[in-house]
Amino acid sequence: MPELEVEGVGTFDVDEDRRLVLAIKDDAGVNIMHSCEGYARCSTCRVEMLEGDPEDMTQAELRMLEMRDLVGEARLSCQILVEHDMKVRVLMTVESVGASDPGGIPTEEVTPEAIFDERPY
Ligand code: FES
Repeated sequence: MPELEVEGVGTFDVDEDRRLVLAIKDDAGVNIMHSCEGYARCSTCRVEMLEGDPEDMTQAELRMLEMRDLVGEARLSCQILVEHDMKVRVLMTVESVGASDPGGIPTEEVTPEAIFDERPY
């Protein structure tokens, strides 16, 4: 079972291949933003990967990171599966952005349908 460390919060056992956004929300209990419900359309679920940055990336994530000029700066937690130990810094929470809610709850599967490619950076 992989371990997820969320900076400033703690370390948690996570079911292998769980969506990172859900692991942060449910396992770590952090009010991470996910405004588009995990469809790689908003970038509010962004995290900084401190350890264990996955080698692959969905095409949808790369498109959004390029659009927001975030390539190399952040990853989208809705597009990442917890396949191994990771340490992350959550960049946008309900509290930090002053939102009234985090957005609709993402499904257990990566959406839109995940097409993984090798990370280009
Ligand atoms: S990009 Fe919107 S929740 Fe991940």
